[in-house]
Amino acid sequence: MIDSTAVTIDKATALSLKELAKQTLKDNDLGGYTVPTHGLYPFQWNWDSAITALGWMKFDEPRAWQEIEILFSGQWDNGMVPHILFHKNSETYFPGPNIWGANRAIKSTSISQPPVLATAIKEMLETAKDSALATEKVTQLFNKLVEYHLWWYNDRDPQNTGLVVTYHPWESGMDNSPAWDDALHAVPCVDWEYTRRDTSHVDPSQRPHKSEYDRFLYLVDFFKRHNFDSQYIFDNCPYKMNDLGIIAILHRATKDLLILGDKLGLNDERTEYLAKRAKMTEQAIGSLWCESSNYFYCRNVLTNSLAKVKTSAGLLCVYAGLATKAQTESLNNTAQQWIEASQFSIASTHPSETCYEPQRYWRGPIWLHINWMIALGFAESGFTNTANHIQQDTRNLVLTSGYYEYFNPETGAGCGGKNFSWTAAIALHWLLD
Ligand code: GLC
Repeated sequence: MIDSTAVTIDKATALSLKELAKQTLKDNDLGGYTVPTHGLYPFQWNWDSAITALGWMKFDEPRAWQEIEILFSGQWDNGMVPHILFHKNSETYFPGPNIWGANRAIKSTSISQPPVLATAIKEMLETAKDSALATEKVTQLFNKLVEYHLWWYNDRDPQNTGLVVTYHPWESGMDNSPAWDDALHAVPCVDWEYTRRDTSHVDPSQRPHKSEYDRFLYLVDFFKRHNFDSQYIFDNCPYKMNDLGIIAILHRATKDLLILGDKLGLNDERTEYLAKRAKMTEQAIGSLWCESSNYFYCRNVLTNSLAKVKTSAGLLCVYAGLATKAQTESLNNTAQQWIEASQFSIASTHPSETCYEPQRYWRGPIWLHINWMIALGFAESGFTNTANHIQQDTRNLVLTSGYYEYFNPETGAGCGGKNFSWTAAIALHWLLD
């Protein structure tokens, strides 16, 4: 196995990769918001925009703030920030706004996505060259962020368990993770015909199967049929997961939101309430830890069973500060083995799992923004070797294949969409300075 930590990047290469990354963001700019990639994803996605703003920050700060402002322009009255905003029509994506049926002023989907926004905004404030502009923007955005976090806790954990639920694999952002297989299998299939668009842009061997799509669409229909009624959906949704990715990302983001509030003197009784909800998560997270495999797993809430497959979401508990010292040490050992198990790391599903598929969407491939979060967690916990190794592998992927949507951990080959915004943004933010 090649020791990827030995790979260095010379100045000229870093410079040309930086230029390419900036150009990727500019090419994907649709006038204030950035599409993840043309064709396959022609709208504004929630967590893509948060990550992409980190990239814009490196060369156009006003444009970075605009990315976030336009995302919040689609916030629902109840505080939810949708997973997709359909600003303009496009025929290249399915399911579009009519299938979702959520006809707000800005058409959108009716679910959210991992709430990394507050974390990205804190990072933006801390690294801004124009700190007056940054302070002004964060002050304006703060209330919207608070509303968004209140929505997560109140709408998705109305019984104060400490663990929010998600209603759709697409909400997790890890759309086709094997952690959803059993829960998704219990969802009925849609009974109408449809034409997918994703498999006309990307090799079908890198995308979900029809049996999964049929169920994804059943859930979309279910939300619409019940008029997006929070209580009804909470009580009756045929798919309900405690998703570790969302739980961890929300937890860290809530703590970051409180830090922002402290810095700007904006905390109030609502943020105190958020702090209480975060404490509940700290008390509840242990129920997702499996002693016999020393790992955190997602839970199917409807059957009260852990989805015992090792996905990279479990490592995000370190990033969230939700793992105890002993758990963090154990997760660090697991991460070391994970790194060794394939040529490039971190595979989204552990290579020793039978469901591991190195090039199929979320069942093995590497995503750069997940690597950034995992490495950040280990670096902050003092496990710098692990963090550095992940960062070097990530850099090496970009050197090998450029800015693809995701990467094959066995070969480093780029998969999915090309010229991808958040991949370019993470390179600018984390890999090329
Ligand atoms: C895919 C990913 C999701 C991402 C979207 C746009 O659906 O699974 O996480 O937000 O593409 O990049």
